[in-house]
Amino acid sequence: MTSADYFEGLYAESSDPWQLAEREYERRKHALTVASLPRERYGHGFEPGCSIGTLTEMLAGRCDTLLATDPVSAPLDRARTRVPGSHVQFERQSVPDDWPTGPLDLVVLSELLYYLSASGRVQVLAHVMDTLAPDGHLVLVHWRHPFEAATCTGDQAHREIVECDGLVRVVEHIEEDFRLDVLARG
Ligand SMILES: C[S@@+](CC[C@H](N)C(=O)[O-])C[C@H]1O[C@@H](n2cnc3c(N)ncnc32)[C@H](O)[C@@H]1O
Repeated sequence: MTSADYFEGLYAESSDPWQLAEREYERRKHALTVASLPRERYGHGFEPGCSIGTLTEMLAGRCDTLLATDPVSAPLDRARTRVPGSHVQFERQSVPDDWPTGPLDLVVLSELLYYLSASGRVQVLAHVMDTLAPDGHLVLVHWRHPFEAATCTGDQAHREIVECDGLVRVVEHIEEDFRLDVLARG
Protein backbone atom coordinates (compact mmCIF):
# COMPACT_ATOMS: atom_id res chain seq x y z
CA MET A 1 0.00 0.00 0.00
CA THR A 2 1.26 3.48 -0.85
CA SER A 3 1.88 5.23 2.49
CA ALA A 4 0.00 8.29 3.72
CA ASP A 5 3.44 10.01 3.95
CA TYR A 6 3.77 9.68 0.18
CA PHE A 7 0.52 11.60 -0.37
CA GLU A 8 1.35 14.14 2.39
CA GLY A 9 4.62 14.77 0.51
CA LEU A 10 2.86 15.26 -2.82
CA TYR A 11 0.45 17.78 -1.31
CA ALA A 12 3.35 19.59 0.42
CA GLU A 13 4.86 20.16 -3.04
CA SER A 14 1.64 21.08 -4.83
CA SER A 15 -1.92 21.89 -3.74
CA ASP A 16 -3.22 19.90 -6.75
CA PRO A 17 -0.58 17.28 -7.65
CA TRP A 18 -2.62 15.71 -10.48
CA GLN A 19 -3.90 19.07 -11.76
CA LEU A 20 -7.45 17.81 -11.31
CA ALA A 21 -8.84 21.33 -11.50
CA GLU A 22 -6.76 22.36 -14.53
CA ARG A 23 -6.48 19.55 -17.05
CA GLU A 24 -9.09 19.02 -19.74
CA TYR A 25 -8.30 15.28 -19.52
CA GLU A 26 -9.52 15.24 -15.89
CA ARG A 27 -12.56 17.44 -16.58
CA ARG A 28 -13.67 15.18 -19.43
CA LYS A 29 -13.06 12.00 -17.40
CA HIS A 30 -15.09 13.34 -14.48
CA ALA A 31 -17.89 14.41 -16.85
CA LEU A 32 -17.91 10.92 -18.40
CA THR A 33 -17.96 9.37 -14.93
CA VAL A 34 -21.02 11.32 -13.86
CA ALA A 35 -22.72 10.86 -17.25
CA SER A 36 -22.33 7.09 -16.88
CA LEU A 37 -24.38 6.94 -13.65
CA PRO A 38 -27.45 4.84 -14.50
CA ARG A 39 -29.75 6.76 -12.14
CA GLU A 40 -30.49 10.47 -11.97
CA ARG A 41 -30.59 10.52 -8.15
CA TYR A 42 -28.89 8.54 -5.41
CA GLY A 43 -29.54 8.51 -1.68
CA HIS A 44 -26.25 7.94 0.16
CA GLY A 45 -23.02 8.27 -1.84
CA PHE A 46 -19.43 7.48 -0.78
CA GLU A 47 -16.30 8.74 -2.54
CA PRO A 48 -13.04 7.79 -0.81
CA GLY A 49 -9.84 9.45 -2.12
CA CYS A 50 -11.64 12.68 -3.00
CA SER A 51 -8.53 14.93 -3.12
CA ILE A 52 -9.55 18.58 -3.71
CA GLY A 53 -13.16 17.64 -4.49
CA THR A 54 -13.37 18.14 -8.26
CA LEU A 55 -15.30 14.92 -8.85
CA THR A 56 -17.10 15.34 -5.50
CA GLU A 57 -18.51 18.64 -6.78
CA MET A 58 -20.14 16.83 -9.71
CA LEU A 59 -21.36 13.90 -7.62
CA ALA A 60 -22.86 16.26 -5.03
CA GLY A 61 -25.58 17.22 -7.50
CA ARG A 62 -26.67 13.61 -7.84
CA CYS A 63 -26.70 12.47 -4.18
CA ASP A 64 -28.96 13.33 -1.24
CA THR A 65 -25.97 12.82 1.07
CA LEU A 66 -22.35 12.28 0.09
CA LEU A 67 -19.39 11.27 2.26
CA ALA A 68 -16.03 12.13 0.68
CA THR A 69 -12.79 11.11 2.41
CA ASP A 70 -9.05 11.49 2.05
CA PRO A 71 -6.15 10.74 4.41
CA VAL A 72 -4.55 14.17 3.80
CA SER A 73 -6.03 17.30 5.40
CA ALA A 74 -4.76 19.95 2.91
CA PRO A 75 -6.85 18.78 -0.08
CA LEU A 76 -9.84 18.24 2.22
CA ASP A 77 -9.70 21.93 3.22
CA ARG A 78 -9.80 22.91 -0.46
CA ALA A 79 -12.59 20.40 -1.13
CA ARG A 80 -14.74 21.88 1.67
CA THR A 81 -14.44 25.30 0.03
CA ARG A 82 -15.17 23.93 -3.44
CA VAL A 83 -18.24 21.94 -2.35
CA PRO A 84 -20.04 23.90 0.39
CA GLY A 85 -23.40 22.04 0.55
CA SER A 86 -24.44 20.75 3.96
CA HIS A 87 -25.40 17.42 2.40
CA VAL A 88 -21.70 16.76 1.59
CA GLN A 89 -19.45 15.65 4.43
CA PHE A 90 -15.65 15.57 4.17
CA GLU A 91 -13.66 13.43 6.59
CA ARG A 92 -9.98 12.64 7.04
CA GLN A 93 -10.13 8.89 6.60
CA SER A 94 -8.47 6.02 4.70
CA VAL A 95 -9.89 2.93 3.10
CA PRO A 96 -10.08 0.05 3.76
CA ASP A 97 -9.84 0.82 7.51
CA ASP A 98 -12.53 3.50 7.42
CA TRP A 99 -15.72 2.59 5.61
CA PRO A 100 -19.21 3.94 6.32
CA THR A 101 -22.08 1.86 7.55
CA GLY A 102 -24.39 1.03 4.68
CA PRO A 103 -26.56 0.80 2.85
CA LEU A 104 -24.74 2.89 0.23
CA ASP A 105 -26.56 3.72 -2.99
CA LEU A 106 -23.44 4.88 -4.81
CA VAL A 107 -19.75 4.08 -4.25
CA VAL A 108 -17.19 5.81 -6.50
CA LEU A 109 -13.59 4.53 -6.56
CA SER A 110 -11.74 6.88 -8.89
CA GLU A 111 -7.94 6.70 -9.27
CA LEU A 112 -7.59 4.99 -5.89
CA LEU A 113 -7.46 1.18 -5.98
CA TYR A 114 -3.90 0.87 -7.30
CA TYR A 115 -2.56 2.73 -4.28
CA LEU A 116 -3.83 -0.09 -2.03
CA SER A 117 -2.10 -3.41 -1.35
CA ALA A 118 -3.61 -6.58 -2.83
CA SER A 119 -5.12 -7.37 0.59
CA GLY A 120 -6.40 -3.79 0.89
CA ARG A 121 -8.21 -4.19 -2.42
CA VAL A 122 -9.74 -7.45 -1.19
CA GLN A 123 -10.95 -5.65 1.96
CA VAL A 124 -12.43 -2.84 -0.12
CA LEU A 125 -14.34 -5.36 -2.22
CA ALA A 126 -15.61 -7.03 0.96
CA HIS A 127 -16.80 -3.64 2.25
CA VAL A 128 -18.58 -2.99 -1.06
CA MET A 129 -20.34 -6.36 -0.89
CA ASP A 130 -21.35 -5.69 2.75
CA THR A 131 -22.67 -2.15 2.24
CA LEU A 132 -23.86 -1.63 -1.35
CA ALA A 133 -27.65 -1.26 -1.41
CA PRO A 134 -29.56 -3.91 -3.40
CA ASP A 135 -30.14 -1.39 -6.22
CA GLY A 136 -26.87 0.50 -5.65
CA HIS A 137 -24.07 1.18 -8.11
CA LEU A 138 -20.30 0.87 -7.81
CA VAL A 139 -18.24 3.08 -10.15
CA LEU A 140 -14.60 2.30 -10.93
CA VAL A 141 -12.36 4.70 -12.91
CA HIS A 142 -8.61 4.19 -13.28
CA TRP A 143 -5.57 5.09 -15.37
CA ARG A 144 -4.55 2.00 -17.34
CA HIS A 145 -0.76 2.30 -17.53
CA PRO A 146 1.78 1.16 -14.90
CA PHE A 147 3.44 3.85 -12.76
CA GLU A 148 5.91 3.76 -9.91
CA ALA A 149 3.59 4.31 -6.93
CA ALA A 150 0.99 1.80 -8.17
CA THR A 151 0.73 -1.72 -6.79
CA CYS A 152 -1.12 -2.87 -9.93
CA THR A 153 -2.54 -1.44 -13.15
CA GLY A 154 -6.03 -0.01 -13.38
CA ASP A 155 -6.99 -2.89 -15.67
CA GLN A 156 -5.98 -5.43 -13.01
CA ALA A 157 -7.78 -3.56 -10.22
CA HIS A 158 -10.97 -3.47 -12.28
CA ARG A 159 -10.65 -7.13 -13.29
CA GLU A 160 -10.44 -8.19 -9.61
CA ILE A 161 -13.79 -6.52 -8.92
CA VAL A 162 -15.59 -7.13 -12.22
CA GLU A 163 -14.93 -10.88 -11.91
CA CYS A 164 -16.43 -11.00 -8.42
CA ASP A 165 -19.50 -13.21 -8.07
CA GLY A 166 -22.46 -11.09 -7.07
CA LEU A 167 -21.68 -8.05 -9.25
CA VAL A 168 -22.66 -7.43 -12.87
CA ARG A 169 -21.29 -4.77 -15.17
CA VAL A 170 -23.84 -2.30 -16.48
CA VAL A 171 -21.44 0.21 -18.10
CA GLU A 172 -18.02 -0.38 -19.68
CA HIS A 173 -15.97 2.40 -21.24
CA ILE A 174 -12.35 1.77 -22.27
CA GLU A 175 -9.91 4.26 -23.76
CA GLU A 176 -6.18 4.13 -24.29
CA ASP A 177 -5.48 5.89 -20.98
CA PHE A 178 -8.32 5.04 -18.60
CA ARG A 179 -11.21 2.68 -18.11
CA LEU A 180 -14.57 3.20 -16.47
CA ASP A 181 -16.85 0.42 -15.23
CA VAL A 182 -20.19 0.70 -13.45
CA LEU A 183 -21.35 -2.38 -11.54
CA ALA A 184 -24.59 -3.40 -9.90
CA ARG A 185 -25.48 -6.36 -7.73
CA GLY A 186 -26.09 -9.46 -9.85
C1 LIG B 1 -5.14 10.53 -7.84
S1 LIG B 1 -6.03 11.24 -6.49
C2 LIG B 1 -7.70 10.89 -7.04
C3 LIG B 1 -8.66 12.01 -6.79
C4 LIG B 1 -10.11 11.75 -7.21
N1 LIG B 1 -10.61 10.49 -6.70
C5 LIG B 1 -10.25 11.82 -8.71
O1 LIG B 1 -10.40 10.77 -9.35
O2 LIG B 1 -10.20 12.92 -9.26
C6 LIG B 1 -5.82 9.98 -5.21
C7 LIG B 1 -6.29 10.46 -3.85
O3 LIG B 1 -6.46 9.32 -3.01
C8 LIG B 1 -6.02 9.64 -1.70
N2 LIG B 1 -5.72 8.38 -1.02
C9 LIG B 1 -4.57 7.67 -1.03
N3 LIG B 1 -4.66 6.56 -0.31
C10 LIG B 1 -5.93 6.54 0.19
C11 LIG B 1 -6.66 5.65 1.02
N4 LIG B 1 -6.09 4.52 1.51
N5 LIG B 1 -7.94 5.94 1.33
C12 LIG B 1 -8.54 7.06 0.85
N6 LIG B 1 -7.90 7.95 0.05
C13 LIG B 1 -6.61 7.70 -0.27
C14 LIG B 1 -4.82 10.54 -1.94
O4 LIG B 1 -4.50 11.34 -0.81
C15 LIG B 1 -5.29 11.37 -3.13
O5 LIG B 1 -5.92 12.55 -2.71
